[in-house]
Amino acid sequence: MIIAIDGPAASGKGTIARRLAQHYGLPHLDTGLLYRATARVLLDQGERLDDAERAVSAARGLALTDFEEERLRGAEIGEAASVVAAIPAVRAALLETQRAFATQASGAVLDGRDIGTVICPDANAKLFVTARPETRAQRRALELRGRGERADYADVLADILRRDERDSGRSSAPLVAASDAILLDTSDLDVDAAVAAARAIVEKVGRRL
Ligand code: CDP
Repeated sequence: MIIAIDGPAASGKGTIARRLAQHYGLPHLDTGLLYRATARVLLDQGERLDDAERAVSAARGLALTDFEEERLRGAEIGEAASVVAAIPAVRAALLETQRAFATQASGAVLDGRDIGTVICPDANAKLFVTARPETRAQRRALELRGRGERADYADVLADILRRDERDSGRSSAPLVAASDAILLDTSDLDVDAAVAAARAIVEKVGRRL
C-alpha cells in the first residue's frame, strides 16, 4: 500500500505520516528533507540558492541515509528549501529517489507537496492535510521554540504565508490537492484526533495491494 500525504507547512502532515507508517508497519519518507538537505549543501558552500546547476548537483549528491534531521528542521532551512524546490531541474533530480522509495515491495508512506500529483499518482490513498495559517503558525512557533530557536509568532506567520504563496504559485509541481485526494483539515483537531481521522480515510479509500 502506498499512502501519499500532501499539504502546506505545519499542517500536521509529517506527524500524521509518521504515525500512519508506524501503524501500518510501512517505511516513511519525509520528502521535505530532500529539499532541505539540498538547500543546506548550498548554504554550507556559500552558494546562491537560485543557482540551478549547483542546486542540481547538490540534489544528485544526496544519500537518503545521511540526513542530520535536527540540523535540517530549522526555520532558515525551510525557507531556503522552498527556493530550491521551485527549480524544475532540482525536482527532476529528486524524482527517481522518491519513486524508488514509494514502489519498494513493502509499500510506503510519503509526505510532501506533490506526492499525490506527481510522485505517486497511483497511490492507494491520498490525503491533503490543511489547517488555518494562524493555527499552523502557532504550531510551528511552539515547535521551533521546543528546538531552542527564537520564534516570534508574527514572523512565523509571515514565513508560512510567504512559503504557501511560493509553493502554490510555482510552475513546477505546485502545491495543490490531487483531484482524488481526501481533504483533512486539522485546525480543530489534536494530534490523536487528526491521526484517527487520517486512519479512517485510509481505511475507507485505501485499496490494499
Ligand atoms: O515542515 P514544512 O512543511 O515546513 O517543510 P517541509 O515539508 O520540510 O518542506 C520544506 C519546503 O520544501 C517546502 O516549503 C516546499 O517548498 C519544499 N517541498 C517541495 O517542494 N516538495 C516536497 N515534496 C516537499 C517539500
